[in-house]
Amino acid sequence: MGVVEFEDVFVKYETYTGGVLALRGVTFSLGEKEIVLIMGPSGSGKTTVLKAILGLVRPLHGSVRVFGTEPKDEKRALKVRRKIGYLTQEGTMINELTVWENIRFYAKGRGRSLNEESVRKLAERLNIGAVLDKHPNQLSGGELKRAELLMVLSDNPELLLLDEPTSMLDAENSEVIVELISELRGGVPMVITSHDPRLEKVSDRVLRIVGGKLVGE
Ligand SMILES: Nc1ncnc2c1ncn2[C@@H]1O[C@H](COP(=O)(O)OP(=O)(O)O)[C@@H](O)[C@H]1O
Ligand SMILES: [Mg+2]
Repeated sequence: MGVVEFEDVFVKYETYTGGVLALRGVTFSLGEKEIVLIMGPSGSGKTTVLKAILGLVRPLHGSVRVFGTEPKDEKRALKVRRKIGYLTQEGTMINELTVWENIRFYAKGRGRSLNEESVRKLAERLNIGAVLDKHPNQLSGGELKRAELLMVLSDNPELLLLDEPTSMLDAENSEVIVELISELRGGVPMVITSHDPRLEKVSDRVLRIVGGKLVGE
């Protein structure tokens, strides 16, 4: 059994004009310790795949299983979400808190324990040790992305979902993230979405999605 299993998944967003079919029969699975990269143009359904894993959108047809559970009601979705580290495209840190306070707040909200020593070590590795006491809106784009990544890694998730982790970053910052993913490879399983070909070399499999359909590996 895979960590994630999609079987003929259709997802529709309701809109005033009748709805958008964002996924049309998506089938794939993510093995234990595997890294799958989903590549595709803007609007092709990449973020929707991640949201379906989190139970933030529910399939119209087909099934999604994560750690053997279908996140199809709020109770089960929360159980699944607690095991997952989700790096969003837009970020989720609160500007009213410092980076360090955000990380504590995040772990507390998830009911998971935080090993502060190892989080500090990881911050040093990501070159953001010096910004932990700043507020998110005081950071550069690259620092903020690394801080968000630090937060989602801080409570040792059992599955990582990274939505375009290197977008909006310069080459140097992208390289830091690619290297970290490479170091985490073989430990925590991941689903990564991206246009960045540099991520291909740290992934075990590349899936291509167009118009909500997988069009081959
Ligand atoms: N909340 C929403 N309401 C209506 N349509 C949406 C919503 N979210 C995404 N979509 C549409 O679903 C399709 C897939 O979106 P998305 O998964 O975000 O693509 P990607 O991440 O590949 O850019 C797009 O056509 C997008 O406009
Ligand atoms: Mg997206």
